Order: sequence, then structure tokens, then C-alpha cells
Amino acid sequence: MSQIPVAVLGATGSVGQRFVSLLDAHPWFKVAALTGSDRSVGKPYAQACRWVLTDPMPEWAREMVIAPSSPEALEARIVFSALPSDEAKEVEPVFARAGMAVCSNASAYRREADVPLLLPEVNADHVGLVRQQRRERGWSGCILTNPNCTSTGLTVALKALQDAFGLKRAFVVSLQALSGAGYPGVPSLDIIDNVIPNIGGEEEKVEWEPRKMLGSLGAEGVALAEIRLSAHTNRVAVTDGHVVVASVELGVEVSPEEAAAAMAAYQAPPSARELPSSPRPVIRVRGEADRPQPRLDRMTGNGMTTVVGRVRPDPLLHLKFVTLSHNTIRGAAGGSIYNAELLVNEGLL
Ligand SMILES: NC(=O)c1ccc[n+]([C@@H]2O[C@H](COP(=O)([O-])OP(=O)(O)OC[C@H]3O[C@@H](n4cnc5c(N)ncnc54)[C@H](OP(=O)(O)O)[C@@H]3O)[C@@H](O)[C@H]2O)c1
Repeated sequence: MSQIPVAVLGATGSVGQRFVSLLDAHPWFKVAALTGSDRSVGKPYAQACRWVLTDPMPEWAREMVIAPSSPEALEARIVFSALPSDEAKEVEPVFARAGMAVCSNASAYRREADVPLLLPEVNADHVGLVRQQRRERGWSGCILTNPNCTSTGLTVALKALQDAFGLKRAFVVSLQALSGAGYPGVPSLDIIDNVIPNIGGEEEKVEWEPRKMLGSLGAEGVALAEIRLSAHTNRVAVTDGHVVVASVELGVEVSPEEAAAAMAAYQAPPSARELPSSPRPVIRVRGEADRPQPRLDRMTGNGMTTVVGRVRPDPLLHLKFVTLSHNTIRGAAGGSIYNAELLVNEGLL
């Protein structure tokens, strides 16, 4: 098939750079445009962007001139949005109305009833909400969202447990990487030798977004999963990779070995298994006492796999374990690209 032209909105930031890197040599998508704020518009990408990834900036991107974030300025069928939420709220519907599929990382539309909040390996069927969205809003394009990067790995692990045993409650604590705060993000003097025990708005997201993704899609839309979640979110001095430690109460009591086996065996729904960005495996369960660790394990499955470890009994609830997910790959740019692949594969573009 010929490649589909795509654009990256907010291409110079932490997530935008990941998009540029992951879309280099993508089998289905070809980058036709990159956008930024007024600070960057009109400049070549290499000049506007302070590249912080270890992979080199792709050659094709270097001379691409940064465009404004408006549909008239670019020719694309899919638009990957790495815009700040306030900007996304204004701009994303304009693209959807103009007939483009917006795959967004921003939180602006995640809670809208007709907007899919997607992790294809968890709730691929929710992509069907796009039909309702187009009908109700009169758009020929659409908006799809991925969850915040802390909910991502946690929700994948919870889904495997929910399917196998049922799920009642989860108490979770995050240790979140610096790249999750964007670029330049948290000042170095605030974070070196430190842990910051507050990330604005994050706890509310982690307590709500998994319930939408683990909920079921019916004629009335998504019924939120009946799970109670309590989250503490913290920023730590790690570059990439969010750790979430979780204690859970399941529908039935099972041994740590049974829970670990269910997570290791978990498979994505069939429509999301064989896409270019499908995580392989969906969950990697590690047996060592001191894993997963961000530096050692975040690139498992090209950064798309959720890594779980330390599955053990919990004296308060049933089980406790650790999850790790790459925040700018599975939790952001890679996740959006996976969503776009699902949309194309379902004939919804
Ligand atoms: N970082 C993560 O791990 C992560 C994970 C999941 C979701 N998200 C979400 O993804 C989005 C991007 O996050 P980030 O971490 O990449 O932020 P970031 O590093 O601050 O990058 C923001 C990007 O948006 C552009 N921008 C800012 N204001 C704009 C405007 N008025 N018009 C057009 N472009 C504008 C910036 O362009 P200039 O450089 O030209 O100013 C930059 O490219 C946010 O909504 C965030 O919540 C982030």
C-alpha cells in the first residue's frame, strides 16, 4: 500500500521528538509536515528543536520547515498531536472537522463520551466510538486519544488480571521519569538528589482513565469499570520510563504464580495483535527480585511492552507487583502510532 501522509503537531517537544524518531521508516506512514509554536514556525526542524534522543535526528527531518498548527498549512490524513492540553483543546477539533484523524496525547478530550481512550492491546473495540463521534459532531475526521503515560503500563497489567480473575480495588504509587514533564521540564536543581511528591492533575487521571479503558462499550457508550483506584504520583530523577507499584484486590484470591502466569499469557485482542507497533509480548513478567528497572528494562519490546515484576502476596489487599512502561514510547508517541494503525486496520480512516 502507498504510504499515508501524516503530520506531527508539537514536533519539537519531548513527545514530538519521539514521533519523529518512531515514524522514521514506518511501513505505513510518511511524515509530510511538522508543527510548533510561534517560536519555531518558519525555522528548519534541526534549528528549532533541541534533540535529546540518543538515536540521531532522521535526515529527512533536519531541513523540514516548521509549519503552524492549522489544517490549511499541511497536507496529511493523520495528525499526531503532541500539543500542550490547552492548545490541543482549541486546535484538534479544527483538524477533525477538516477531515483528518487526530491521534492525540493530550488530556483535553480523553473524558468525552464519544472519544476513544485507547490502548489497542486492552480495548481495541473502543475505536468503534469514532462512528458515533462522526455522526454526532458532523466531522469527517475524528479524535482518538491515548491515556496519560502513568496509566498506560498499569492499565495493561490490570486488564490481564481483570480478564482472568476480576478486579475490585487498586492502590498505586508512581515513580515518574523526567521526560514525562516535557522539555525542558523540571529544573535540575529541583530534581537532582530529590523526589517531588506531587505532579499536578496526575492522580485524578490515574484514578479515572483506567476505568474508562477497562470499561465495556455498549449501545450507550463506555460503562466505566467498577474498580476503585487510589494513586500517589511522584517525579523522580530518571530520564525515561515510569514505574508504578501496585497493590490490588481481585475478584478471587489467587497465588502470585497464577497472577504472574495470567499476565505473561495475556494477548491483545485479535485486531490489535499484528500491527507494526503491536507490543511483542504485551507483558513481560520478570522473575528477578530487583526488576523491572527503568534503565535496564524500558526498551523491552522496542519500548512498547509493559514489564511486570515482584508479583507477591500483599498483607492488605491480595497481591502486589511493580510495572514499568516507557512513557514517551508506549505511554505517548508509540501509543498514538499504534492507535492510528488500529484505525487504518479497522477501515476507519
Ligand atoms: N512527555 C510524556 O511522557 C507524555 C506522555 C503522555 C502524554 N503527554 C502529553 O503530550 C503533550 C506533549 O507533551 P510534551 O511532554 O512533549 O511537551 P513539551 O516537551 O513541552 O512539547 C510541547 C510541544 O508543543 C509545542 N507548542 C507549545 N505551544 C504551542 C502552540 N501554542 N502552538 C503550537 N505548538 C505549540 C511546542 O513547540 P515549540 O517548541 O515550538 O514551542 C512543543 O513542540 C502534552 O499534552 C502532554 O501532557 C506527554
